[in-house]
Amino acid sequence: MNELQDKVALITGAASGIGRAAALRFAEEGARLVLADIDEKAGKALAAALPAAVFQRCDVSKHEQCSALVELAEKTYGRLDIAFNNAGISDGPIPPGTLDYPLELWDRVIAINLSSVFYCLRAQVRSMLKTGGGSIVNTASIAGQIAFAGVPGYVAAKHGVVGLTKTVAVEYAAQGIRCNAIAPGFIETAMTKDVLGAEQGRQMMQMAVPAGRAGEAREIADLALWLASDRASYVNGALMAADGGFLAR
Ligand SMILES: NC(=O)c1ccc[n+]([C@@H]2O[C@H](COP(=O)([O-])OP(=O)(O)OC[C@H]3O[C@@H](n4cnc5c(N)ncnc54)[C@H](O)[C@@H]3O)[C@@H](O)[C@H]2O)c1
Repeated sequence: MNELQDKVALITGAASGIGRAAALRFAEEGARLVLADIDEKAGKALAAALPAAVFQRCDVSKHEQCSALVELAEKTYGRLDIAFNNAGISDGPIPPGTLDYPLELWDRVIAINLSSVFYCLRAQVRSMLKTGGGSIVNTASIAGQIAFAGVPGYVAAKHGVVGLTKTVAVEYAAQGIRCNAIAPGFIETAMTKDVLGAEQGRQMMQMAVPAGRAGEAREIADLALWLASDRASYVNGALMAADGGFLAR
């Protein structure tokens, strides 16, 4: 249980779902954590329950707040080894489709799901270059590899996350930085509770996913943990799915 012993890891969207599960798994493996989220109450409570964690309220759509997270890691622990850029939002319970997609929704979804990753990556890579490298994992989605009708903002943002991941992977591999993306399928979290909580949505998911079930946040956290760890030392620029076989169909 010391996969990440003494590593310093930053996690965004840490207050809920996949980010929260990752915080718990990374801590179990000995990491020292900087946790970030807009949900201050849940984030603070989580940090207080872990052996070595600080929480900072952060809106990842603001570049200066993303930089401040890295500064906090350096100030608190002296370095940054791992970053899990995971915060994100869906584009709403009723997908409006491309022609009716509100411009404000487009701006919001792109800012929180894509620009945020760009802002975080820049600050994180700068920090990791000073200490000889690190491992970055970005949360994309199955919607970063294929399209779903009705959610153009989310699909575009997640495809963009995959592109940014590959760019950083090729730019900084020689300096010891690995950058990979994960593609969760249908995972039981707050984000999917409306869809998976409805009988029709759950039946559709069960038919579409070869495993016949939704994933658990911990199953995604374990993939992020492996990619973050030195065991994945030759994995760089990859998009790895944890989707119960959905993309294989
Ligand atoms: N649940 C799924 O089925 C699924 C599938 C594919 C990808 N994802 C991705 O996984 C990531 C985590 O989602 P989740 O399912 O755990 O959902 P979640 O809603 O449980 O967690 C998302 C977290 O991000 C935080 N957040 C939202 N906006 C933020 C902002 N501007 N700044 C900082 N934090 C912010 C929320 O407060 C929340 O704690 C997202 O990027 C999502 O797109 C989820």
